[in-house]
Parts: sequence; C-alpha cells; structure tokens
Amino acid sequence: MSTHEIRKKYLEFFKKRGHTVIPSSSLLPEGDVTTLFTGSGMQPLIKYLLGEAHPGGKRLTDAQKCVRAEDIDEVGDNRHTTFFEMLGNWSFGDYFKEEQLPWFFEFLTDEVDLDPQKVYVTVFAGDTERQIPRDEESVAIWKALFAKKGITAEAVVLDTEQRASEKGMQGGRIFYYGVKKNWWSRAGTPENMPPREPGGPDSEVFYEFTSVPHDPAFGAHCHPNCDCGRFVEIGNSVFMEYRKNEDGSFSKLAQRNVDFGGGLERIAAASLDDPDIFNIDILKPLILAIRAAAVRPHIRSERIITDHIRASIFLIGDGVIPSNKERGYLLRRLIRRAVMHGQYLIGLEGDFWGSTIDVVIDSYTHAYPELSEKRVLIREVFMKEQAAFARTYESGIKEFEKIAAETKPGGVISGADTFLLLATHGFPIELTEELAAQKGIGVDKESFAREVAHHRELSRAGQEKKFGGHGLLLDTGELKARNEEELKKVTRLHTATHLLQAALRNVLGNEVGQKGSDITTERTRFDFTFPRKLTKEEIQSVENLVNKYIKMDLPVQYKELPKEEAVKTGALYFFKEKYPEVVKVYYAGHSLEDAVSKEFCGGPHVAHTREVGVFKIAKEEAVAAGVRRIRGVIEP
Ligand code: ALA
Repeated sequence: MSTHEIRKKYLEFFKKRGHTVIPSSSLLPEGDVTTLFTGSGMQPLIKYLLGEAHPGGKRLTDAQKCVRAEDIDEVGDNRHTTFFEMLGNWSFGDYFKEEQLPWFFEFLTDEVDLDPQKVYVTVFAGDTERQIPRDEESVAIWKALFAKKGITAEAVVLDTEQRASEKGMQGGRIFYYGVKKNWWSRAGTPENMPPREPGGPDSEVFYEFTSVPHDPAFGAHCHPNCDCGRFVEIGNSVFMEYRKNEDGSFSKLAQRNVDFGGGLERIAAASLDDPDIFNIDILKPLILAIRAAAVRPHIRSERIITDHIRASIFLIGDGVIPSNKERGYLLRRLIRRAVMHGQYLIGLEGDFWGSTIDVVIDSYTHAYPELSEKRVLIREVFMKEQAAFARTYESGIKEFEKIAAETKPGGVISGADTFLLLATHGFPIELTEELAAQKGIGVDKESFAREVAHHRELSRAGQEKKFGGHGLLLDTGELKARNEEELKKVTRLHTATHLLQAALRNVLGNEVGQKGSDITTERTRFDFTFPRKLTKEEIQSVENLVNKYIKMDLPVQYKELPKEEAVKTGALYFFKEKYPEVVKVYYAGHSLEDAVSKEFCGGPHVAHTREVGVFKIAKEEAVAAGVRRIRGVIEP
C-alpha cells in the first residue's frame, strides 16, 4: 500500500464514521505564539477543544503538515524527519475512549494489515499529586481488543523510563507509564503546562520491528519507550479532558475530547515491516536519486538531504523565506545543510537541486496541489539560497581551515570564531560543528550563544535610534508592516531614503549627515545636518538625482563585513552608534566600489532601484538649529 493510499484510506475510514474531512492547515500557525511551526494536528484546532463550535461539527479528521524543528539534529538515522504528516481525528465532546481505541486498532490491523502480534500499547499510570487517576478504562478496552485477535494482553506498570529499562517488558503488552510519557499537552507534562492550557492522559501505540535487535546503549532491557529503534510510536490517542487552573491544580474541561495523531510515514514504514522510514515509497526515489548522483555516497547525508529538501519545499510553499531569524532561519539551515551535505560532502554535481525539487513536488501533486502551483517560486527561493551559500562557502571554508589549524586536536572553536563564520560567511553553527567534527574538534556552544545574544542587543539598540518611533520600520530592523502591500511600500521608501541621503551629499556636500529617519507607508521623513534652508534649485537637483539613480535600475545588495572593513568602504553610518563586530553594508550599484549609495543597514530594500517608482520631495523645513527635515513620497 502506498503512503498516499494509507492517507486516503485513513480519511475515508473516519469519514465513514461520521467525521468531516478538513484540509491541512498551514505550517505557520495563525494566532498561536507557542510554537514557530505547526507540529501537531491539534494546534490549529485548540479553540474547538476548549468548547467553541467547529463548522464541520463534533467529529473531524485530516492529514496535517507538521514541522518539528527540534528534531533537526536527529535527522540522519533511520526514523527521524523534520517534516512529516500527522493523521488526525478529533471528537469535540462527542465519542471517547470506547470508540477511539477500537477504531484506530481496527484501522491498523484490518485496513493497513499490521500484524497485531507486533503492536504494543502504553497507558497513563496516574498522577497522585494532582489526583488524576490511572487509566484503567483504556487497559480494559485494549485487553478486549487484543483478545479478539487471540492475544492475551497483560498490563505491566513501568512508570519511568529508568524503571522500564531496569525491569524490561516482563511479558506484557500494555504498559503503564507516568506523566513524562503518557500525558500530552502542547507544553508537555502537567508541571510544565501554563494555566488554562488543556491536556490529558494518552494511550500510545507502538510497532515492534523485530529485525532490530535491542541496543544496550539505551538501557539494560528494551521496552516500548526505549529509543533504540526496535519500537516506534505510530499513533497517540489523547483523552483531552483536563485543563490547568491558575493555582496549579487540574479541573475537568466542560467537554471530553479525543485528540488523535499518528505519523503517516511511520505507519507506512510499519506496513512494510521496514524500520527505515526512508524506504517508503515517497522518500525512497529521492534517496536513490541522490545515491546515483553522488561521487561519494553516504547514507546519513542521503537521509539529511532527502528530509531537508522535502521540508524546505513545504515551508517555502507556505510562505517562508530564508532569513537570519526564527522561521526563516530554520529554512536557511535546512537548505544550507542539504547543500553542504550534497555538494561538499558527497559531491552531487550538475543541476541536481532543481530536478530533485520537481521530483518531490510531482510526488505530492494530488495530496498538495498548491506545491505544483508554486513550483516556480519554490525553485527560485531554494536556488537563490543555494547559490548564496555556494558563494560564501568558498571564502568561509578558507576561514574555517585557518581557525581549525589554530585549534588543538580535541579542543574547541571559540564562540567568537563560530559567530564570525556565521555573520561573515553564513555558516550556521551546525555546519561549523559538522566540519569541526570531521577534524576531531568541537565548538564552544555556550560562548556562541552569548555572542548571538550580545549581537542581537546591539542591533536592537541601533535600530531603535535610527528609526525614531512612528514608522513601520522599527525595533530589531523587523518591519511592523501588517501585510504584503505595506511591506512593499515601506521597502520602496526605505531604498528611496538611502538614495536621498546620497543625492543630498552629492548636491550639498559631505556636511550632510543623517540625524534620524522615520518611514511609514505614506512617506519617508529624513532629518540631516545642514546649516541653512535649501534653495528651490537645490531641492529640484536633489529630487532629479534621486530619480536618476532610480532610472539607472541599479541592483541593491548587501555585503556582511567586519566593522572596520565596512568603515573603510566609505559606507555611511551613525558615528555615535555602537555597531556589532560584523555589519551589513547595503549598496546601490553593481559593485561596492562604484555604488552611488552605501550605508550600514539591516534592510529590507528593493532588489533594483527602478522598483522605487517616482520620487518627490513634498516638504523641506527646519527641525532645530542646523538640522533640516525632508519629507519624501513616491508614486508607483
Ligand atoms: N496531539 C497529539 C500528538 O501530537 C496527538 O501526539
């Protein structure tokens, strides 16, 4: 059975049982600040679990795109991926354990045809401190279900992972674990949950890959929650009927909910009885294509590239663009890590990336048609980042070699050097770690984290000064624009402001210095030092010169440079401001040397000056002795 068939069967199975099939939500959660990405099927549905009526009714089912960024370091083994699909079904105050557990068991054993002998389950052992009872109801249901398949299922109390690996399975099939394993909420254990958060005991289903021997590195004995890879979790029924109170105690929600999530790819792997998830039909062709194109094939790199390309495609499809923070940063890491493994470790050649993106998109045409619609954009974004990385890689690797040569065998690369590689050459810390590991050295992660925090503080302080307080371009250089339209206008006006400063200095001389600027969607306001009122002719000349720069359609780009070097390029900056060790210099021109404008700046800017439109000076006035103010507007 193909993975797409399993998805289809699952949705049909629950549709037949009164569920409304809903489409997957975006990977970018709306109005949910708890996580960067949608990482489970219930996240977009939280308000319905809390009692609001869903237009689809009390029973829903879907296949939800998920990204778990925290798993990125695990990718490379046979079962972890950052992107996966979660099959889900929900009851909002409708059915409960008596229906949920039999349905999922039936789906697994009768529809997907898993051998029930290889199915093991876990249940909640109870929490005496919070007076939440152990889940004996689920145990009774599971016993009956296994009995129907001719299997005597004994329940065994394991409680913690530690105790479990000491005691082993003791012939059991149903296992009681405590709050760390069989309680589910967005925040994890009851203790970690913030007030008002819903959660509940859960019952997980594991598949046993009998071909995988237990690895004693994970404990003396194997058990369902052992991480050695013999048992893999394939589904989780959460009985979400509690919420946390302000005082830390727990009460029942007004309704008893079921929140079920099952990993589609893992179920597909179980259906093949193959512990390597990368052997399922939607991933295997990628692995094989990479292997065929590689000069030095290596399974770990093949898996990393496969996972990261697929995750990148889905993220770009949902609107993420590579950047240095949050969502954009994960995408940047995924693309750069894929490229690093592909081009620099296993030696992929030719137009590998473009054609591979097509293979992935084509395999998802039916389930996610939006990927095909955005094919051109997805390729462009990926290829642009790939090219940017390839450019910085050459200089970065030289720098890395120098640093590594100065590091003693078994020693660590300092946080400052790791940060320099990131800021100047775009090397994510993981890449530096990977390269360092090949040389038998490490990276000082703690001091790196301090460097990052320090840098963030400095750039925040700088931006606040620079952009006054009224505008939409504020704070950390982040735009406060609320939509694409605002973003475009503010970006155009921002580039216009750089061109204006350049034109002012050209017409009036270098005594012109920026005192402040403030940009809204309507206008740019630029304050600068100059001793007198400008003449009409001067204003006209400045305006003409800005429009001339615009018509030249110069590329606007940036270079990241150590501060001293950046100053030497002649780029403009605020004298009084503290800048980080590495700064971005934005310039309009074909090269930094002959640019008409260059400034220390965090962006964003248009890609080519012509995008600015027609620039007009609306007003020129005094703000203080020796300080003038220009208001500029643009027309499309
Ligand atoms: N929300 C539950 C999970 O993600 C089903 O495991």
